[in-house]
Amino acid sequence: MFKVTNESIEKHRTEALVVGLYEENKELQTIYQQLNDKLNGELDELVQSGDISNHNNSVSKVHTFSLIEAKRIYFIGLGKRDERTVHTVRKAFGKVFKQLSQDRIGQASIQLDSVITGEGQADYVEAIAESMAMAPHQLQTYHTERDEKSIELTNINYLTEQSAGVVEAANTGYALGNGANIARHLVNLPGNLLTASDLATFAENIAAKHNIEIEVFDQAKIEEYGMGALLAVNQGSEEPPRFIVMKYQGKEKWEDPVAFVGKGITFDTGGYSLKPKDGIIGMKMDMGGAASVIGAMDAIGHIKPNENVMALIPATDNMISHTAYKPDDVIVSMSGKTIEVRNTDAEGRLAMADAVTYARQNGAVKIVDVATLTGGVVVALGDQVTGAMTNNDDWLNEIKHASQQVDEPVWQLPYLDVYQKQVRKSHIADLNNSPGRKAHAVMAGCFVGAFAEDTPWVHLDIAGTAMADSEHDLGPKGPTGVMARTLAKAMMNVK
Ligand code: BES
Ligand code: MN
Ligand code: ZN
Repeated sequence: MFKVTNESIEKHRTEALVVGLYEENKELQTIYQQLNDKLNGELDELVQSGDISNHNNSVSKVHTFSLIEAKRIYFIGLGKRDERTVHTVRKAFGKVFKQLSQDRIGQASIQLDSVITGEGQADYVEAIAESMAMAPHQLQTYHTERDEKSIELTNINYLTEQSAGVVEAANTGYALGNGANIARHLVNLPGNLLTASDLATFAENIAAKHNIEIEVFDQAKIEEYGMGALLAVNQGSEEPPRFIVMKYQGKEKWEDPVAFVGKGITFDTGGYSLKPKDGIIGMKMDMGGAASVIGAMDAIGHIKPNENVMALIPATDNMISHTAYKPDDVIVSMSGKTIEVRNTDAEGRLAMADAVTYARQNGAVKIVDVATLTGGVVVALGDQVTGAMTNNDDWLNEIKHASQQVDEPVWQLPYLDVYQKQVRKSHIADLNNSPGRKAHAVMAGCFVGAFAEDTPWVHLDIAGTAMADSEHDLGPKGPTGVMARTLAKAMMNVK
């Protein structure tokens, strides 16, 4: 799918040639000059008239009328060269990839040296390939009449003088982007079409593709393990729960695994603490954490980092019926800790609690959980920043570093003793699942953290970031697949 060549720009045959254009010194850009000469100086005129823009994030399409072998040139404005980063380039290319897809172009060539040369080139190539996978991604719809407007871009040729590592970086970036797309697809599926069992089947298919070990626990096995908190959430449902365990072995021996834990609530009604009619819409996305974890495992399956990774997903919906759990119920979690249920809508932390216990009991040396856990984090941080909590700053720094590399911002919330104490306040049990309105994003994290105990743990609340209100540079309105890339990248950073 990715190739590298060092052909001269006039001789290179392609449907679409993508060329980067910076704001200053267009005279000094030899690639631009070469093209301008071949096109009889027309480019200069188009730049002057503004038909070709070098401003960041603008795309200008030019037909070449057979003056060179490439049929069209897509100029991509990259703004000021000294303000360029991997992140600005990833986004700018998102624009161009969307345009190519809309123009139904399946093959294109990127003149890489017009974008970046020298050190750091591989990082840019990786980011561009992420963008290529993610930006034109289209979510599944169920319209009976559909117009097939765009097609998938499948072949990219990089024109560059220094070719070392380019294809590898592109493959890595594409795998990361594709992992995010898998997460988006899962989040997009409505609750009636993605039950806990369906989610498990999907994970099995991903695992089979990469030879990743997988075990799916059914209701009986979940009962055998004593996952009482997960079972309580499932109690009102006709759909049986699932507990998904995936194991990617990147080291010689299965030792010291990192655990990814993803909240897999396939639909959250709130239970007897029922959500209001406006708040319940969109709750098919409550398995966003599970989706990110599965997407990350797919990327990891492609990239094959030297780390052992265990993915754990407690999956169920949260329903109401005469069998459902209720406020005031006291339940026994897998850890043995008892929990007073004050709010059946604080179900995510219950399901997560048993998964975190499973991680600890199965040798996880580090845990990172991803969950659409609270409305509170949406109020606090909005839709651009994921809320983080930790009991171990080094582990959080590893996750943060990865999140910065792929431009998925996270911000730390306080995991303080005074707050940890509040989830332990109950006259009838060890913990309570909902201490109240104050700092409730933090309370949710503290609750999960109580089960991590002293194992290094990072909590990522993606309730705000899992969905985009509108189309953006790297994808459509709707599920973002956030944290799939961060998790995979964090495992790649292991030496
Ligand atoms: N799944 C929700 C959190 C959520 C809210 C995700 C909005 C995405 C968008 C979670 O299970 C929930 O209901 N949380 C409650 C907790 C409360 C009852 C303590 C909340 O945030 O209101
Ligand atoms: Mn809920
Ligand atoms: Zn929920």
